[in-house]
Amino acid sequence: MFGRLARKRSDPHALHAQVRPGATYSPWNQDQEFRAVYERLRAHTLVDIWRCHELWQLVAQSAKLSGGALLEVGVWRGGTGALIAQRAARCGISDPVYLCDTFTGVVKAGDKDTAYKGGEHADTSFAAVGALLADIGAHNAHLLQGIFPEQTAARIEAETFRFGHIDVDVYRSARDSFEWLWPRLLAGGIVVFDDYGFIGCDGVTRYVEELRALPGCAVLHNLNGHAVVIKWQDAAAPGA
Ligand SMILES: C[S@@+](CC[C@H](N)C(=O)[O-])C[C@H]1O[C@@H](n2cnc3c(N)ncnc32)[C@H](O)[C@@H]1O
Repeated sequence: MFGRLARKRSDPHALHAQVRPGATYSPWNQDQEFRAVYERLRAHTLVDIWRCHELWQLVAQSAKLSGGALLEVGVWRGGTGALIAQRAARCGISDPVYLCDTFTGVVKAGDKDTAYKGGEHADTSFAAVGALLADIGAHNAHLLQGIFPEQTAARIEAETFRFGHIDVDVYRSARDSFEWLWPRLLAGGIVVFDDYGFIGCDGVTRYVEELRALPGCAVLHNLNGHAVVIKWQDAAAPGA
């Protein structure tokens, strides 16, 4: 994976090259509340401090909406899910946080995915994530085990949402998760895609690029590996 990146760095027209923004503002260094929570979960996440801090900030932004649950698809060992749940509670959000994973690894890999084959990230368990959530005091978090949306979404069918974090590594899981969430997302709601722009997660990058044509939203390319979708009005669901 990184060998390919090294080769491509020498090509000024390559689709992938190391991104080095020149700005230096680093609020995650001095945000003491964030750092205290982050230190407790950093060993349970694959997501770096920059993306964790962005989740922390965006969950707080979503508190401006008058209601709506929060959803994460792709939990692995629970790090970002615990972060989202902690931030929501600390911002006074009383709505539930749903954390969805097979807990047996990645599913739905296909020909749009360049590295994932299925079964990756199976080194976790429902019980281990439950223990982390209890330890960190994330009593607002609810774990849903199974393939999302097919096996678990029926349990939260009637909810509306203010925030979603889709961290599933592959095209079809990203698409299916977003298509389920979008009609239930309130105007002003935010969806963060992890994996956007990483070598090996090309299926997710491709899906987000397709979403740029979706009416009623803005799609932001954040240079840290997140794509952020902000819904500004209700509109037809993608794929409808
Ligand atoms: C990279 S990991 C998530 C990382 C996690 N957010 C963290 O804090 O490190 C991706 C996870 O997505 C899960 N996953 C992928 N597709 C899924 C689907 N359709 N339904 C449920 N879980 C899925 C995998 O089981 C895996 O645990």
